[in-house]
Amino acid sequence: MSTQPSTGHVTVDVLLTPDDLATMLRTDVRTGLAKSPKSLPPKWFYDDRGCALFDAITRLPEYYPTETERGILLRNAEAIAEQSQADTVVELGSGTSDKTRTLLDAFAQSGRLRRFVPFDVNEATVRAAAERLAQDYPGLSVHAVIGDFEHHLRALPTEGRRLVAFLGSTLGNFAPEERKDFLSQLAGILRPGDSLLLGTDLVKDVGRLEAAYNDAAGITAEFNLNVLRMLNRELGADFNLDAFVHHAFFDPVNEWIEMQLVSATEQRVQVSAVDLIVDFSNGEQMRTEISAKFRRERVEAELAEVGLHLTEWMTDPAEDFALSLAFVD
Ligand code: AVJ
Repeated sequence: MSTQPSTGHVTVDVLLTPDDLATMLRTDVRTGLAKSPKSLPPKWFYDDRGCALFDAITRLPEYYPTETERGILLRNAEAIAEQSQADTVVELGSGTSDKTRTLLDAFAQSGRLRRFVPFDVNEATVRAAAERLAQDYPGLSVHAVIGDFEHHLRALPTEGRRLVAFLGSTLGNFAPEERKDFLSQLAGILRPGDSLLLGTDLVKDVGRLEAAYNDAAGITAEFNLNVLRMLNRELGADFNLDAFVHHAFFDPVNEWIEMQLVSATEQRVQVSAVDLIVDFSNGEQMRTEISAKFRRERVEAELAEVGLHLTEWMTDPAEDFALSLAFVD
């Protein structure tokens, strides 16, 4: 790990270099495309174009989670700051500083906030956001960490009383087993007095759930297909983006949205950087994301299972989305 001092109150720990990411991508592609059914992990959606497309998704009329979570955060800011007694906010997957600011504004009111720890995989994004935040929030120390929250939680800075925020229902991207692992790792790095602020999208009317992933403007389809464009660029693949179709549906048994790319024809694809030739049959489904939808009982039980005690369940009036505040037992 390298710690590099920067201007003002910004430090950046680099746990993950672009080379590490390139290696992880190759491994994930070799594994995912060799499986049956084929799959790709959703984390690879977020190249520069993918981040811009996701940003556009968050502003779609059908995509309610972002704005709903923001409202819950704003309405409960004071209570969260008060109850957590945190002087350090850690944000896992901090990404765009938009969400970050809602959280920091909420905390700044408490007058207690001393340190912000943005944690994300994209070094350029985190560095730029860290510099801007240090300028805009005088007196705030920004200790950025470039890492992958599936691998580097143990390297999180330990100073202060920490509130770890994991927002946007990103937790829903984990399969149930992975989710359990992740939560237990996360609980393992929390110390008495630290807390977790967790955003989860909730089970609701299927029509509204499916509309959120099948927007009329077709942005989610673009976002889904963009992963193939990224593979063409990064791994010298020759995916024909016109030969795959976006498909997203609610799976009522697992209570998750599943997103797929469906092959519109029988076709062969080469991924030259990993020496892979992949055949798709007509109609073959490749999973690109699951997005689990939660109920209070499940969130509470899964947190309890790893020794985290739910103290606040904060929702919007329609109960579309929830923020949970939980403490180490
Ligand atoms: C950022 C994972 C919460 O599942 O709603 C949005 C990503 N995918 N539209 C979600 C996403 C398609 C989003 N998460």
